Amino acid sequence: MTLPAASPAGRWARISGWGSYAPKAIITNADLERMVDTSDEWIVTRTGIRERRVAAAHETTASMAAVAGARAIAVAGLEPDDVDLILVATLTPDYWMPSTAALVKEAIGNTRAAAMDVAAACSGFVYAYATAHAYVTAGLARHVLVVGAELLTRFLDYTDRSTCILFGDGAGAVVVSASDEPSGPHGIELTTEPQGAYMIWLPAGGSKSPSSAETVARGEHFIRMEGRETYRFATKTLASSALAAIRRAGLEPGDIDLVVPHQANVRIIEAVAKGLDFPMERIFVNLDRYGNTSAASVPLALAEAVDSGRVKVGDRIVFVAFGAGFTSGAVAMEWSVDPANGARAASVDPDAIRVRLPVDWNSVDPIPPALAAVLAARGPVDVPLDDVVPGEPAHASVPAASVPVPASASPAPAAPSEVPS
Ligand SMILES: CC(C)(COP(=O)(O)OP(=O)(O)OC[C@H]1O[C@@H](n2cnc3c(N)ncnc32)[C@H](O)[C@@H]1OP(=O)(O)O)[C@@H](O)C(=O)NCCC(=O)NCCS
Repeated sequence: MTLPAASPAGRWARISGWGSYAPKAIITNADLERMVDTSDEWIVTRTGIRERRVAAAHETTASMAAVAGARAIAVAGLEPDDVDLILVATLTPDYWMPSTAALVKEAIGNTRAAAMDVAAACSGFVYAYATAHAYVTAGLARHVLVVGAELLTRFLDYTDRSTCILFGDGAGAVVVSASDEPSGPHGIELTTEPQGAYMIWLPAGGSKSPSSAETVARGEHFIRMEGRETYRFATKTLASSALAAIRRAGLEPGDIDLVVPHQANVRIIEAVAKGLDFPMERIFVNLDRYGNTSAASVPLALAEAVDSGRVKVGDRIVFVAFGAGFTSGAVAMEWSVDPANGARAASVDPDAIRVRLPVDWNSVDPIPPALAAVLAARGPVDVPLDDVVPGEPAHASVPAASVPVPASASPAPAAPSEVPS
């Protein structure tokens, strides 16, 4: 038996657009070998990660989120102002306030949406998707932009080999749109288990322990993690959350064509496959190239899965995540939009998307010094060095008023033959 995602208002919600953004610079396991006592062999065997992306000095969570979001809007065939609500899931916001979503709204050229951030760590995108689904099916919004974006490399201790090897930067997004036609089977499961609250956490900078010279000296502005406990929780909860979402959709694991899991560790993903008695060939994995990008992980993988031909109309897919909190979330759904629409993302020029900068405030060295030193020592890199190493990017001192904001971040849809960048 299958249950459509019926709503009291008789409205259905479906994903109409998708997009992603990954910074150009790459940190390989060999680079990390030069920073901490680790090895490519250890990292690949224990995690499956081979490389991860690192944001350039001028990039922020908001700038990456805005590019991914603009691409998702273009793929949906919409204009930025068609979006009623913008949700940005992140644990690495540009600032504590304003929200990253507010900065994204202006950067993509939207003048009318409500905008807010969602804090559920690595499960954040799934929580934000669930929120978007609720808004749309309740009739409160017609189009919701849901972004997962993270700039984790600025919150890592590059002397702690147990965490710095795991994480990377990036962003992914979808548009959730109202539809009068039934959307097919749909199920959502969200859980929060606070006994894991201090298994992955960032101690300082909040009201319990505001940032100070002392908290910085103690390294309390970096992510801390109990790897083994987190691993245990992840293997248990990913399979149970996915199964709950699948059953809520009236389906069984055998009905699922593709699972897009949180990309934390390939051994965790293999355990999920075993738990669901599900073949690895039907699980999408890209963590070898991106590492764990937290809230960006699922939408980055989803966009890549769709654009690489792994999803077709009518496929039943599941996306599932876990993270600090401990949180977990899963969605089972039927894919209903032509994957060829992904080519429209090529119409978005990332360089035309600018995030408003503060007036009379200059940021300092956004790249962690240890990371910058490795990048600089490596010799030629695939992005201009000025863009990567510490230093004031040229535009950082430009008053906000003179930073151009594009009138529209998503021009007319491109021909289907164009490949998204
Ligand atoms: C972090 C993780 C990869 C560590 O793998 P593990 O097999 O559990 O390894 P352990 O923590 O038991 O450490 C085993 C040994 O490797 C060492 N080690 C840890 N990191 C290392 C590294 N980068 N390179 C080399 N050795 C390392 C440890 O110090 C330990 O040494 P010891 O036995 O001499 O004490 C794994 O626990 C994990 O993936 N946990 C979940 C993390 C996660 O998903 N976090 C994000 C949640 S969204």
